[in-house]
This record gives sequence, C-alpha cells and structure tokens, in this order.
Amino acid sequence: MIDPALIDIIKAAKRVVVFTGAGISAESGIPTFRDAQSGLWEKYDPEKLASAKGYRADKDLVWGWYEWRRMKVMQAQPNAGHYAIAQLAEQVPDLTVITQNVDDLHERAGSQTVIHLHGSLFQPRCFACARPYQFENTALDEPIDGRCLAPPSCQHCHGRIRPGVVWFGENLPTDEWRQAETAAKNCDVFFAIGTSGVVMPAAGLPVMAAKVGATVIKINLDSMGLEKVAKYRLQAKSGDVLPLLVDLLNK
Ligand code: OAD
Repeated sequence: MIDPALIDIIKAAKRVVVFTGAGISAESGIPTFRDAQSGLWEKYDPEKLASAKGYRADKDLVWGWYEWRRMKVMQAQPNAGHYAIAQLAEQVPDLTVITQNVDDLHERAGSQTVIHLHGSLFQPRCFACARPYQFENTALDEPIDGRCLAPPSCQHCHGRIRPGVVWFGENLPTDEWRQAETAAKNCDVFFAIGTSGVVMPAAGLPVMAAKVGATVIKINLDSMGLEKVAKYRLQAKSGDVLPLLVDLLNK
C-alpha cells in the first residue's frame, strides 16, 4: 500500500512538516466541518456561529456551541494518527506540526510544539480588551449539548469572553502564520493530513512547500484536492496509514 520510494524520501528528509485538519481528529469522535451529513457546517450555520457578527447577535448561542465542542474534545482521546505523528518526530531530524484544529489532541498524544493556525478552544479571550481568560474549572460541571450558555465576564474589564478561535473574516495569529510559512518554505517533506484544503490562507501551505521542491504527501479518506501538488496521495484513514508508515520507517 505504501510505495517504498516514499519511505526512502522520508528517511532522507532533514525537515518535515505535518499539516493537519479536522480529519486527523475524526477517529477520536470529533466532528469535521465539511463531511456530508455529519460535518459541523452541514448542521450549523457558520455565519451565526463562527463570526464576530454572529457573536454580537447572540453571545449565549455562540459561547454555548463552543463550550459544547470543548466538552467533546475533553471527553475524547488522541487516536493512532496523533500518536504516530508524535513518534514520527523521533524518527526525523526536525518535524513541525501545524494544525488547523482547535483541539489539543496532538499535544495530548505527545507532540511537543504545535502551531495552531486557527486558535484553540482552550484559550478564550475578552471580546472587548482581548486579554486571555482563565477558565475557573477545566472540566464543565454538566453536559451542555449545544445549549445556549452565557459567556463569563473578563477578570479585568468585565467585557464578555469569546472563544479563542479564528472566525471567518479574521486574520490568522501573526506569529503562528509566520512560523508556518517559514516551515513550509524550508521543508523537504510536507504531509497534508485530513484537510479538505479549501480554507485560505492555511490551504496555501502545501503549495508553498511544493514550490520549493518539497515532496507533498496527502493523506485523506477523500481522493479530491491537491491533484497538482501532492506527489503521493494515500487515500485512507490517517489512523490506519500513519502507524503503518512509522513502522516502515523503523525497518
Ligand atoms: P474539513 O471538514 O473541511 O475536511 C476534513 C477532511 O478530512 C475531509 O477532506 C475528509 O475527507 C477528511 N477525513 C475525514 N476523516 C478522515 C480520516 N479518518 N482520515 C483522513 N482523512 C479524513 O476540515 P478542515 O480541512 O480542517 O476553520 O477545515 C479547515 C477549516 O475550515 C477549519 O479549521 C475550520 C473550518 O471552517 C475555522 O473554523 C476557522
């Protein structure tokens, strides 16, 4: 299933980038965004739930939705794909994990440094003064299942707290984006795993890597996307193919 030439390329690589999307966490039970039927954007309106305008219009709805998602992540466990990426970091001289995910499953699987391009469910901040907010309880007291929930108030200015994620119409965090671009432009091997590759600017990273001559490897259940960019396209579950790849590297 995996071309031996690909294993040789990874073995020879000095700098590897692993770029992930919602698909890497799907096998942990975290919903993706664009899957038919089960995807979050199939069920919910992104304009209402993932924009500053939507938050202004109904803060309790938006805060409740993100707390429901945070709760789902806290109940979930990293899967074989997350663990394999942490192991891969031991097998190559330099590995950078860049994720579009707002969960913490890479970190919990042992990846040391993770660049979060779209923020984190665990780093909310004040909508008014932008200072970070410390959750009083790391766990939620009761299951909320998407109910409306009033956002807490800022410990400094008493403004309302917003989720620490990047919404539509907002810029990516500057430092994280700079680090991601630098990593993509300086790698020999670039994995694009479990992402539909439609949300810019993140989706531009594999193209940047290909332009500097890196071998782009796409791992996705779906065959679409990155046709011109990815030299290797593994159509499989990331939780199946990544452990296999790590095993082959050990041989
Ligand atoms: P999407 O939901 O757009 O894409 C998920 C991809 O993962 C799809 O291509 C699936 O085929 C694939 N997939 C599902 N299960 C898989 C598995 N077990 N193994 C491998 N692949 C699998 O999610 P993203 O590409 O992450 O942004 O979406 C990008 C951004 O769009 C998100 O970060 C979010 C959203 O709007 C913001 O909220 C800012």
